[in-house]
Amino acid sequence: MSKKILVTGATGQVGSELTIALRDKFGGGNVIAVGHSGAPDKELKNSGPYEVVDATDMNALRALVEKYEAGIIYHLVGILSAAGEKKPDLAWRVNMESLKNVLDLARNLKLRIFWPSSIAAFGPTTPKKNTPQKTILEPSTIYGVSKVAGELLANYYFLKYGVDVRSLRYPGLISYKTPPRGGTSDYAVAVFFEAVKNKHYSFFVNKETVLPMMYMPDAVKATIEIMEADPKKLTVRHSYNLAAMSFSAQELALEVKKHIPDFSYDFKPDERQKIADSWPKTIDDSRAREDWGWRPEFDLSKTVVDMLENIRKH
Ligand code: SER
Repeated sequence: MSKKILVTGATGQVGSELTIALRDKFGGGNVIAVGHSGAPDKELKNSGPYEVVDATDMNALRALVEKYEAGIIYHLVGILSAAGEKKPDLAWRVNMESLKNVLDLARNLKLRIFWPSSIAAFGPTTPKKNTPQKTILEPSTIYGVSKVAGELLANYYFLKYGVDVRSLRYPGLISYKTPPRGGTSDYAVAVFFEAVKNKHYSFFVNKETVLPMMYMPDAVKATIEIMEADPKKLTVRHSYNLAAMSFSAQELALEVKKHIPDFSYDFKPDERQKIADSWPKTIDDSRAREDWGWRPEFDLSKTVVDMLENIRKH
């Protein structure tokens, strides 16, 4: 199998960091960044090949896999939860058609696939504390519906066609390289930018809101680790629960304030509150820990220090 790697959604929140990490590990020329529109940042553009392809276009995607003789796809294209509620038809089309394309390519060309699911696969009827690996999946957003359908499809392609597809249910992800783009957990990103720039942030959720969160270096580490894992050790082909930390919006604000004493904040919940309330507070990720040795490195205080340092630098 060719070792060349395609990353779709390469300019997105995960893609912009995972692509660089993969290039550092496997060589810039071996990792092809695939974006859909807009200019990639300098680092992405200068560190390896960059191609513009719409992942819902099967022929274009196949041509790209053949051009580079890729053996692995990290398929990160996706419209997030809050953005999806504004355009449900588009979210379904982008999230599902692109995944189906990637799985069909994998089936025909024997590719290994990474595709992220999310805590958004859970819903109001899911147990909220220490949410188990196997539990009720009745999401109330189109994004969540596309994640549950995607998990089922991934597992189906594994069982029926032997496609080596691997998946993680990412918590809310905290990172500084891209601006927030339509996620419900994005208050935990926006607060850092606003605190540094304007010394004030209005949270769009209430202060009691607790969600599972993870700092991007941990998400990148988990993604590369599951893709490197011995396939015999993987007992979950739907998607693995994954966790690092959980904290309330208030706790986050106080942690930021420790470093920026004149930071002020308030809470003005909007329609995203309902989405946040439908998701778990804490996640049981023991299966990922047992099967392929998952361990996070960043807790809240380490994350806040690193985020503020990097935002000030950039
Ligand atoms: N971070 C995503 C969102 O908030 C969840 O996967 O939409």
